[in-house]
Amino acid sequence: MGIKQRAKAISSAYGALQALGRDPTSLTFDQYCIDQTIQAAREFGVGTTGSRIANGTYEQHRALEEQIAKFFNKRAAIVYSTGFMASLGVISALAEKGDHLLIDADSHASIYDACKLSGAETTRFRHSNPEDLAKRLARLKGTPGDKVIVVEGIYSMLGDSAPLAEIAAVKREAGDDVYLVVDEAHSLGVLGETGRGKCQADGVEADCDYIFGTFSKSIATTGGYCVSDVEEFEALRSYSRPYMFTASMTPPTVATARAAFERMAALPELRERLWENSNRLYGGLAKLGFDLGPEVSPVVAVKLPDPRVAVTLWNLLIDAGVYTNIAIPPATPNSLSLLRVSVSAVHDDAQITQALEVFAEAGKKLGLVPGTGDAAASRVA
Ligand SMILES: Cc1ncc(COP(=O)(O)O)c(C=O)c1O
Repeated sequence: MGIKQRAKAISSAYGALQALGRDPTSLTFDQYCIDQTIQAAREFGVGTTGSRIANGTYEQHRALEEQIAKFFNKRAAIVYSTGFMASLGVISALAEKGDHLLIDADSHASIYDACKLSGAETTRFRHSNPEDLAKRLARLKGTPGDKVIVVEGIYSMLGDSAPLAEIAAVKREAGDDVYLVVDEAHSLGVLGETGRGKCQADGVEADCDYIFGTFSKSIATTGGYCVSDVEEFEALRSYSRPYMFTASMTPPTVATARAAFERMAALPELRERLWENSNRLYGGLAKLGFDLGPEVSPVVAVKLPDPRVAVTLWNLLIDAGVYTNIAIPPATPNSLSLLRVSVSAVHDDAQITQALEVFAEAGKKLGLVPGTGDAAASRVA
Protein backbone atom coordinates (compact mmCIF):
# COMPACT_ATOMS: atom_id res chain seq x y z
CA MET A 1 0.00 0.00 0.00
CA GLY A 2 1.39 3.44 -0.98
CA ILE A 3 1.65 6.31 1.50
CA LYS A 4 -1.38 8.09 -0.02
CA GLN A 5 -3.59 5.03 0.46
CA ARG A 6 -2.24 4.56 3.96
CA ALA A 7 -3.01 8.17 4.85
CA LYS A 8 -6.55 7.72 3.52
CA ALA A 9 -7.08 4.57 5.59
CA ILE A 10 -5.78 6.30 8.71
CA SER A 11 -7.98 9.36 8.27
CA SER A 12 -11.11 7.25 7.78
CA ALA A 13 -10.32 5.31 10.98
CA TYR A 14 -9.93 8.57 12.91
CA GLY A 15 -13.16 9.91 11.45
CA ALA A 16 -15.02 6.83 12.69
CA LEU A 17 -13.56 7.26 16.15
CA GLN A 18 -14.54 10.92 16.35
CA ALA A 19 -18.04 10.17 15.12
CA LEU A 20 -18.49 7.80 18.02
CA GLY A 21 -17.47 10.23 20.74
CA ARG A 22 -16.16 8.83 24.00
CA ASP A 23 -17.56 6.29 26.34
CA PRO A 24 -17.28 6.88 30.06
CA THR A 25 -14.57 4.77 31.63
CA SER A 26 -14.12 3.95 35.28
CA LEU A 27 -11.12 5.75 36.79
CA THR A 28 -10.74 8.05 33.79
CA PHE A 29 -13.79 10.02 34.97
CA ASP A 30 -13.42 9.33 38.69
CA GLN A 31 -14.08 12.57 40.56
CA TYR A 32 -11.21 12.07 43.02
CA CYS A 33 -8.74 11.44 40.18
CA ILE A 34 -10.00 14.54 38.37
CA ASP A 35 -9.85 16.73 41.50
CA GLN A 36 -6.32 15.61 42.38
CA THR A 37 -5.21 16.21 38.81
CA ILE A 38 -6.63 19.73 38.70
CA GLN A 39 -5.16 20.59 42.08
CA ALA A 40 -1.71 19.39 40.95
CA ALA A 41 -1.93 21.50 37.79
CA ARG A 42 -2.79 24.58 39.88
CA GLU A 43 -0.09 23.92 42.45
CA PHE A 44 2.81 22.64 40.34
CA GLY A 45 1.93 23.64 36.77
CA VAL A 46 1.24 21.52 33.75
CA GLY A 47 4.75 20.51 32.74
CA THR A 48 8.25 19.92 34.09
CA THR A 49 10.32 21.20 31.12
CA GLY A 50 12.97 18.61 31.80
CA SER A 51 14.01 15.00 32.10
CA ARG A 52 14.24 13.08 35.37
CA ILE A 53 18.05 13.35 35.47
CA ALA A 54 18.02 17.10 34.77
CA ASN A 55 15.42 19.44 36.26
CA GLY A 56 12.41 17.13 35.77
CA THR A 57 12.35 15.26 39.09
CA TYR A 58 9.80 16.72 41.49
CA GLU A 59 8.91 15.59 44.96
CA GLN A 60 5.72 14.08 43.44
CA HIS A 61 7.69 11.71 41.15
CA ARG A 62 9.46 10.36 44.22
CA ALA A 63 6.18 10.08 46.11
CA LEU A 64 4.61 8.15 43.22
CA GLU A 65 7.61 5.80 43.10
CA GLU A 66 7.36 5.16 46.84
CA GLN A 67 3.61 4.57 46.56
CA ILE A 68 4.07 2.08 43.71
CA ALA A 69 6.91 0.23 45.47
CA LYS A 70 4.67 -0.10 48.53
CA PHE A 71 1.71 -1.26 46.43
CA PHE A 72 3.83 -3.99 44.83
CA ASN A 73 5.59 -4.80 48.09
CA LYS A 74 8.95 -4.31 46.35
CA ARG A 75 12.10 -2.45 47.44
CA ALA A 76 11.87 0.24 44.81
CA ALA A 77 10.05 1.63 41.79
CA ILE A 78 11.02 3.87 38.88
CA VAL A 79 8.47 5.73 36.79
CA TYR A 80 8.81 6.54 33.09
CA SER A 81 6.88 8.95 30.90
CA THR A 82 4.99 6.15 29.07
CA GLY A 83 4.71 2.38 29.17
CA PHE A 84 6.57 2.19 25.86
CA MET A 85 9.46 4.13 27.46
CA ALA A 86 9.40 1.77 30.47
CA SER A 87 9.66 -1.22 28.15
CA LEU A 88 12.49 0.33 26.10
CA GLY A 89 14.26 1.69 29.17
CA VAL A 90 14.13 -1.38 31.39
CA ILE A 91 15.01 -4.00 28.79
CA SER A 92 17.78 -2.00 27.12
CA ALA A 93 19.33 -1.25 30.52
CA LEU A 94 19.29 -4.90 31.61
CA ALA A 95 20.92 -6.38 28.52
CA GLU A 96 23.64 -5.12 26.20
CA LYS A 97 25.96 -6.54 23.56
CA GLY A 98 27.21 -9.88 24.87
CA ASP A 99 24.00 -10.60 26.81
CA HIS A 100 21.00 -12.64 25.67
CA LEU A 101 17.35 -11.63 25.56
CA LEU A 102 14.81 -14.44 25.31
CA ILE A 103 11.43 -13.03 24.39
CA ASP A 104 8.02 -14.57 23.77
CA ALA A 105 7.25 -14.59 20.03
CA ASP A 106 4.00 -12.64 20.60
CA SER A 107 5.71 -9.79 22.43
CA HIS A 108 4.50 -6.21 22.12
CA ALA A 109 6.26 -3.92 19.63
CA SER A 110 7.93 -2.01 22.49
CA ILE A 111 9.69 -5.22 23.59
CA TYR A 112 10.92 -5.91 20.06
CA ASP A 113 12.18 -2.33 19.79
CA ALA A 114 13.83 -2.59 23.21
CA CYS A 115 15.77 -5.64 22.02
CA LYS A 116 17.11 -3.64 19.08
CA LEU A 117 18.05 -0.74 21.36
CA SER A 118 19.87 -3.07 23.76
CA GLY A 119 22.27 -4.57 21.20
CA ALA A 120 21.92 -7.97 22.95
CA GLU A 121 21.53 -11.25 21.07
CA THR A 122 17.75 -11.77 20.85
CA THR A 123 16.05 -15.18 20.73
CA ARG A 124 12.30 -15.61 20.27
CA PHE A 125 10.74 -18.62 21.95
CA ARG A 126 7.37 -20.11 21.02
CA HIS A 127 4.43 -18.21 22.44
CA SER A 128 3.70 -19.19 26.06
CA ASN A 129 5.78 -22.34 25.65
CA PRO A 130 7.98 -22.97 28.72
CA GLU A 131 9.47 -26.14 27.16
CA ASP A 132 10.73 -24.19 24.16
CA LEU A 133 12.13 -21.52 26.51
CA ALA A 134 13.92 -24.20 28.55
CA LYS A 135 15.40 -25.69 25.36
CA ARG A 136 16.72 -22.36 24.21
CA LEU A 137 18.14 -21.52 27.63
CA ALA A 138 19.87 -24.89 27.73
CA ARG A 139 21.62 -24.07 24.44
CA LEU A 140 22.98 -20.90 26.06
CA LYS A 141 24.24 -22.63 29.19
CA GLY A 142 27.87 -21.78 29.85
CA THR A 143 27.93 -18.94 27.32
CA PRO A 144 29.08 -15.58 28.68
CA GLY A 145 26.59 -12.81 29.40
CA ASP A 146 23.32 -12.50 31.30
CA LYS A 147 20.19 -14.21 30.04
CA VAL A 148 17.06 -12.09 30.36
CA ILE A 149 13.63 -13.64 29.77
CA VAL A 150 10.84 -11.21 28.83
CA VAL A 151 7.15 -12.14 28.90
CA GLU A 152 3.81 -10.36 29.29
CA GLY A 153 1.18 -11.00 31.98
CA ILE A 154 -1.72 -10.78 29.53
CA TYR A 155 -0.86 -10.59 25.84
CA SER A 156 -2.18 -7.52 24.10
CA MET A 157 -3.43 -9.10 20.89
CA LEU A 158 -5.20 -12.34 21.89
CA GLY A 159 -5.83 -11.51 25.56
CA ASP A 160 -4.31 -14.79 26.74
CA SER A 161 -2.15 -14.91 29.86
CA ALA A 162 1.38 -16.26 30.29
CA PRO A 163 1.97 -19.57 32.11
CA LEU A 164 4.07 -17.69 34.64
CA ALA A 165 4.41 -20.45 37.25
CA GLU A 166 5.99 -22.74 34.61
CA ILE A 167 8.13 -19.95 33.17
CA ALA A 168 9.35 -19.00 36.66
CA ALA A 169 10.25 -22.66 37.28
CA VAL A 170 12.28 -22.73 34.04
CA LYS A 171 14.07 -19.58 35.13
CA ARG A 172 14.89 -20.99 38.58
CA GLU A 173 16.28 -24.17 37.01
CA ALA A 174 18.40 -22.28 34.49
CA GLY A 175 20.85 -20.64 36.91
CA ASP A 176 21.92 -17.43 38.63
CA ASP A 177 22.68 -15.50 35.47
CA VAL A 178 19.05 -15.74 34.29
CA TYR A 179 16.55 -12.96 35.00
CA LEU A 180 12.81 -12.79 34.49
CA VAL A 181 11.12 -9.57 33.35
CA VAL A 182 7.33 -9.31 33.11
CA ASP A 183 5.33 -6.63 31.31
CA GLU A 184 2.03 -6.29 33.20
CA ALA A 185 0.60 -3.62 30.86
CA HIS A 186 -2.70 -5.47 30.47
CA SER A 187 -2.79 -7.23 33.82
CA LEU A 188 -2.18 -4.45 36.37
CA GLY A 189 -5.50 -3.75 38.08
CA VAL A 190 -6.97 -6.80 36.36
CA LEU A 191 -5.38 -9.90 37.91
CA GLY A 192 -4.21 -10.81 41.40
CA GLU A 193 -5.83 -10.47 44.79
CA THR A 194 -5.00 -6.77 45.06
CA GLY A 195 -4.65 -6.09 41.34
CA ARG A 196 -0.86 -6.33 41.15
CA GLY A 197 -1.13 -8.46 38.02
CA LYS A 198 -0.39 -11.93 36.71
CA CYS A 199 2.75 -12.31 38.86
CA GLN A 200 0.58 -11.89 41.95
CA ALA A 201 -2.20 -14.11 40.58
CA ASP A 202 0.28 -16.94 39.93
CA GLY A 203 2.18 -16.44 43.21
CA VAL A 204 5.52 -15.84 41.49
CA GLU A 205 6.30 -12.24 42.41
CA ALA A 206 9.52 -13.31 44.15
CA ASP A 207 10.73 -14.98 40.92
CA CYS A 208 10.02 -11.94 38.75
CA ASP A 209 13.15 -9.80 38.98
CA TYR A 210 11.68 -6.81 37.20
CA ILE A 211 7.98 -6.08 36.71
CA PHE A 212 7.02 -3.20 34.51
CA GLY A 213 3.86 -1.81 32.95
CA THR A 214 1.86 1.20 31.96
CA PHE A 215 -0.56 3.71 33.48
CA SER A 216 -2.38 3.98 30.15
CA LYS A 217 -4.84 1.14 30.76
CA SER A 218 -6.16 0.49 34.29
CA ILE A 219 -4.46 3.57 35.80
CA ALA A 220 -6.38 6.04 33.66
CA THR A 221 -3.53 8.29 32.53
CA THR A 222 -0.15 8.06 30.80
CA GLY A 223 3.17 6.87 32.20
CA GLY A 224 5.02 3.68 32.94
CA TYR A 225 6.67 1.98 35.89
CA CYS A 226 9.12 -0.71 36.86
CA VAL A 227 9.41 -2.34 40.30
CA SER A 228 12.09 -4.64 41.62
CA ASP A 229 13.78 -6.10 44.69
CA VAL A 230 17.12 -6.33 42.88
CA GLU A 231 19.80 -4.42 44.80
CA GLU A 232 21.28 -2.73 41.73
CA PHE A 233 17.87 -1.54 40.52
CA GLU A 234 18.65 2.18 40.99
CA ALA A 235 21.37 1.86 38.32
CA LEU A 236 18.53 1.72 35.78
CA ARG A 237 18.20 5.47 36.21
CA SER A 238 21.69 5.90 34.71
CA TYR A 239 21.35 3.25 31.98
CA SER A 240 17.81 3.80 30.67
CA ARG A 241 18.09 6.24 27.79
CA PRO A 242 14.26 6.61 27.63
CA TYR A 243 14.38 7.67 31.29
CA MET A 244 17.34 10.02 30.91
CA PHE A 245 16.62 11.75 27.63
CA THR A 246 12.92 12.53 27.64
CA ALA A 247 10.75 14.93 29.65
CA SER A 248 9.40 13.51 32.90
CA MET A 249 5.72 12.83 33.64
CA THR A 250 3.89 16.12 34.12
CA PRO A 251 2.59 17.04 37.62
CA PRO A 252 -1.06 16.46 36.60
CA THR A 253 -0.30 12.98 35.18
CA VAL A 254 1.68 12.11 38.32
CA ALA A 255 -1.29 13.23 40.44
CA THR A 256 -3.74 11.17 38.34
CA ALA A 257 -1.58 8.08 38.68
CA ARG A 258 -1.27 8.54 42.44
CA ALA A 259 -5.02 9.02 42.80
CA ALA A 260 -5.83 6.08 40.52
CA PHE A 261 -3.61 3.69 42.51
CA GLU A 262 -5.45 4.82 45.66
CA ARG A 263 -8.85 4.32 44.03
CA MET A 264 -7.87 0.95 42.64
CA ALA A 265 -6.98 -0.24 46.14
CA ALA A 266 -10.19 1.22 47.58
CA LEU A 267 -12.51 -0.17 44.90
CA PRO A 268 -11.92 -3.91 44.40
CA GLU A 269 -15.48 -4.08 43.07
CA LEU A 270 -14.22 -2.45 39.86
CA ARG A 271 -12.08 -5.50 39.23
CA GLU A 272 -14.96 -7.85 40.05
CA ARG A 273 -17.22 -5.98 37.67
CA LEU A 274 -14.53 -6.02 34.98
CA TRP A 275 -14.40 -9.82 35.18
CA GLU A 276 -18.19 -10.14 35.17
CA ASN A 277 -18.27 -8.05 32.01
CA SER A 278 -15.37 -9.93 30.42
CA ASN A 279 -17.05 -13.28 31.11
CA ARG A 280 -20.35 -12.07 29.76
CA LEU A 281 -18.88 -10.61 26.56
CA TYR A 282 -16.55 -13.54 25.89
CA GLY A 283 -19.26 -16.10 26.71
CA GLY A 284 -21.81 -14.29 24.55
CA LEU A 285 -19.52 -14.01 21.53
CA ALA A 286 -18.45 -17.65 21.89
CA LYS A 287 -22.09 -18.75 22.06
CA LEU A 288 -22.83 -16.80 18.89
CA GLY A 289 -20.14 -18.84 17.16
CA PHE A 290 -17.33 -16.32 16.80
CA ASP A 291 -13.79 -17.66 16.76
CA LEU A 292 -12.16 -16.10 19.85
CA GLY A 293 -8.80 -15.88 21.60
CA PRO A 294 -8.05 -18.82 23.89
CA GLU A 295 -9.22 -17.43 27.24
CA VAL A 296 -11.52 -14.93 28.88
CA SER A 297 -9.89 -11.57 29.58
CA PRO A 298 -10.77 -7.88 29.27
CA VAL A 299 -9.17 -8.06 25.79
CA VAL A 300 -11.55 -10.26 23.80
CA ALA A 301 -9.99 -11.08 20.44
CA VAL A 302 -12.36 -11.99 17.60
CA LYS A 303 -10.41 -13.91 14.93
CA LEU A 304 -11.38 -13.25 11.33
CA PRO A 305 -10.45 -14.99 8.10
CA ASP A 306 -8.60 -12.08 6.48
CA PRO A 307 -7.98 -8.29 6.73
CA ARG A 308 -10.83 -7.53 4.29
CA VAL A 309 -13.41 -9.29 6.45
CA ALA A 310 -11.91 -7.62 9.54
CA VAL A 311 -12.29 -4.15 8.03
CA THR A 312 -15.84 -4.90 6.82
CA LEU A 313 -16.97 -6.20 10.22
CA TRP A 314 -15.21 -3.32 11.99
CA ASN A 315 -17.13 -0.82 9.85
CA LEU A 316 -20.47 -2.61 10.32
CA LEU A 317 -19.95 -2.52 14.09
CA ILE A 318 -19.00 1.15 14.07
CA ASP A 319 -22.08 2.01 11.99
CA ALA A 320 -24.19 0.23 14.61
CA GLY A 321 -22.51 2.07 17.52
CA VAL A 322 -19.94 -0.47 18.70
CA TYR A 323 -16.28 0.51 18.59
CA THR A 324 -13.60 -2.18 18.53
CA ASN A 325 -9.90 -2.02 17.72
CA ILE A 326 -8.86 -3.57 14.46
CA ALA A 327 -5.53 -5.42 14.32
CA ILE A 328 -4.23 -6.82 11.05
CA PRO A 329 -0.86 -8.10 9.78
CA PRO A 330 1.96 -7.22 10.23
CA ALA A 331 0.93 -5.96 13.70
CA THR A 332 -0.49 -9.33 14.76
CA PRO A 333 0.98 -12.71 15.75
CA ASN A 334 0.82 -15.43 13.07
CA SER A 335 -0.57 -12.90 10.58
CA LEU A 336 -4.00 -13.06 12.23
CA SER A 337 -6.76 -10.59 11.40
CA LEU A 338 -8.49 -9.53 14.60
CA LEU A 339 -11.00 -7.25 16.18
CA ARG A 340 -9.91 -6.56 19.74
CA VAL A 341 -12.92 -5.85 21.91
CA SER A 342 -11.93 -4.09 25.12
CA VAL A 343 -14.37 -4.38 27.95
CA SER A 344 -14.37 -2.02 30.93
CA ALA A 345 -15.64 -2.17 34.50
CA VAL A 346 -18.22 0.50 33.74
CA HIS A 347 -19.88 -1.06 30.74
CA ASP A 348 -23.38 -1.83 31.96
CA ASP A 349 -25.48 -4.91 31.21
CA ALA A 350 -27.51 -3.10 28.56
CA GLN A 351 -24.35 -2.04 26.71
CA ILE A 352 -22.97 -5.57 26.67
CA THR A 353 -26.32 -6.93 25.47
CA GLN A 354 -26.38 -4.28 22.76
CA ALA A 355 -22.81 -5.08 21.70
CA LEU A 356 -23.68 -8.78 21.45
CA GLU A 357 -26.78 -8.04 19.39
CA VAL A 358 -24.78 -5.87 17.02
CA PHE A 359 -22.09 -8.55 16.71
CA ALA A 360 -24.79 -11.17 16.04
CA GLU A 361 -26.36 -9.11 13.28
CA ALA A 362 -23.06 -8.16 11.62
CA GLY A 363 -21.66 -11.67 11.99
CA LYS A 364 -24.73 -13.12 10.30
CA LYS A 365 -24.50 -10.59 7.48
CA LEU A 366 -20.93 -11.66 6.76
CA GLY A 367 -21.64 -15.37 7.20
CA LEU A 368 -19.30 -15.55 10.19
CA VAL A 369 -21.84 -17.03 12.60
CA PRO A 370 -24.71 -19.42 12.05
CA GLY A 371 -28.41 -18.57 12.44
CA THR A 372 -30.38 -15.41 11.92
CA GLY A 373 -29.36 -12.21 13.68
CA ASP A 374 -32.52 -12.19 15.78
CA ALA A 375 -32.21 -15.82 16.78
CA ALA A 376 -28.54 -15.41 17.58
CA ALA A 377 -29.14 -12.27 19.64
CA SER A 378 -31.85 -13.98 21.66
CA ARG A 379 -29.44 -16.80 22.52
CA VAL A 380 -27.11 -14.34 24.29
CA ALA A 381 -29.61 -11.92 25.86
C1 LIG B 1 2.13 -5.08 26.33
C2 LIG B 1 2.31 -3.61 26.24
N1 LIG B 1 3.46 -3.06 26.70
C3 LIG B 1 3.67 -1.74 26.62
C4 LIG B 1 2.72 -0.88 26.09
C5 LIG B 1 3.00 0.59 26.00
O1 LIG B 1 2.27 1.34 26.90
P1 LIG B 1 1.97 2.89 26.70
O2 LIG B 1 0.71 3.00 25.97
O3 LIG B 1 1.88 3.45 28.07
O4 LIG B 1 3.12 3.48 25.95
C6 LIG B 1 1.53 -1.40 25.63
C7 LIG B 1 0.50 -0.51 25.05
O5 LIG B 1 -0.44 -0.86 24.45
C8 LIG B 1 1.30 -2.79 25.70
O6 LIG B 1 0.18 -3.35 25.24
